[in-house]
This record gives sequence, structure tokens and C-alpha cells, in this order.
Amino acid sequence: MKNLEKDTQKLIQAARQAQLNSYAPYSNFRVGSAILADNGKVYAGCNVENAAYPLGQCAEAGAIASMILDGGQKIVKILVASPNEKICPPCGGCRQKIKEFADKNTEILMCDNQGNIQTVDIAGLLPFAFELD
Ligand code: THU
Repeated sequence: MKNLEKDTQKLIQAARQAQLNSYAPYSNFRVGSAILADNGKVYAGCNVENAAYPLGQCAEAGAIASMILDGGQKIVKILVASPNEKICPPCGGCRQKIKEFADKNTEILMCDNQGNIQTVDIAGLLPFAFELD
């Protein structure tokens, strides 16, 4: 692995491990995601598709649910591992889901299958975001 911060390496490992369990028989596009939360723990998720296509769930949603279940409250870093040579930017819905638990310091990392990483902050990922207050 390249010369990356330790927590980024941990996220890549966790996301790739999750990717192995991805259930994507319809798209064959296997995605993994991992979050470093404010409690210092790492939570992973993979996409879970469904024969009723719109019911499928993205990898990021799984990782967020796992963080919340375990008591994590904020996303310090979230990484999305793509199955191919192009990075996989989160879909529109996931951008809003990430925003719910992000702040201006949250890093969103997108990693291709070669280990190339692109990073954005939440303002870059979801400008002009909907919020209630
Ligand atoms: N997908 C994710 O899990 N995360 C993303 O950021 C983009 C897309 C999934 C949804 C679906 O199972 C498959 O990739 C193809 O769209």
C-alpha cells in the first residue's frame, strides 16, 4: 500500500474486506465502505441489492447504520472502495446520508482498485445541502 496515514490504511482494509461480502447480483458492481467514527472505531458496510431494484442499499448506508447502532455519532473519515479503476463517488442519496453525520472537518475518500485516492470535504461533496435548521 502507498504511503498513507494509518487510519486511511485501516479504512481501505476494512472497506475491501466488506466488498468481498457485497451482494450485487444485479449490477455486479461490488462496493465497500468504511467509516472512522468520533469514538475512534471503524465501521464497514457493503452494498446489498434486491430483486426489486430500488430497495437495494449502498455500502455507505450500511456503514452508517453500523456506526449508529454501536453509538458512534460523527464521521471523521469515510472511504468508498470502488471495484474498478475509476473511483466511486457516493450517490446523491448517500451524500445526504453522510452529511447528517459530517462536519466541516469530515473527509470523504474515494479509492479505486489500484489504491488511488481522491478526497473531498462535505461542502465539496454536497454543496447547497438541505438541512432543517
Ligand atoms: N453503490 C454503492 O454502494 N455506493 C456508491 O457510492 C454508489 C453505488 C452501489 C449501489 C448498487 O448496488 C451498485 O453500486 C450499482 O449502482
